[in-house]
Amino acid sequence: MTKLIAGNWKMNGSLAANEALLGALAAGLSARPACDVAICAPAPYLAQLQALKAGAPALAVIDIGAQDVSAQASGAYTGEVSAAMLRDFGCRYAIVGHSERRQYHGETDALVADKAKAALAHGITPIVCVGETLAEREAGRTEEVVKRQLAAVIHVNGHCISEIVVAYEPVWAIGTGKTASPDEAQSVHAVLRAQLKAASDNPARVKILYGGSMNAANAATLLGQPDIDGGLIGGAALKAEDFLKIIAAAQ
Ligand code: PGA
Repeated sequence: MTKLIAGNWKMNGSLAANEALLGALAAGLSARPACDVAICAPAPYLAQLQALKAGAPALAVIDIGAQDVSAQASGAYTGEVSAAMLRDFGCRYAIVGHSERRQYHGETDALVADKAKAALAHGITPIVCVGETLAEREAGRTEEVVKRQLAAVIHVNGHCISEIVVAYEPVWAIGTGKTASPDEAQSVHAVLRAQLKAASDNPARVKILYGGSMNAANAATLLGQPDIDGGLIGGAALKAEDFLKIIAAAQ
């Protein structure tokens, strides 16, 4: 299956920095990368990405994504951005349930499931993040935690579940330089794969990305695991050279 390499810029960037980064990506990207490529940018920059893409044919292969989406359709929800608005700016993806949102914004499994539903209703593919904390891993609870997080999304989204992307991001590996070993990641991916298979009557394979300190040096081994269908890349997506190397590793 075609792998997906998605950059998660988090709260980084500026008009000038984004333009420079996309310029460097345009110069280094092949017209037909062997994987799908996406960049999930802060909401205020989605319009800029859309405009830069329109002006540079080499950027056509990059899909635009958001880092969050409201579960609500419209109305009195100050600060929120709806799926329809993201759609207006050409978003193909929206990350939902990133551990930073679960941790700093109190997002629950149920809210994450509703956000996935709102995205799907507008033709946006939710990239649903799941992952255990260090304490949960050390207590032997990894499987239980990720299955609970995914089950909530399956419960709310029913037969649409084959249209989501899942990202397994162990919280202890995010931004820490400590990557899950390929075996550790693969074994959790296999658990998620089985759960998705059992929940869906559609034989289409749901992409399961790995995220957490994936970089140019470790990408090929992680992406070589049978159930790792791509990567969600934070820090390394902010440097064109590194992001391009990860894209190349996904061929
Ligand atoms: P990282 O972030 O690659 O910087 O660890 C990944 C993520 O949080 O999506």
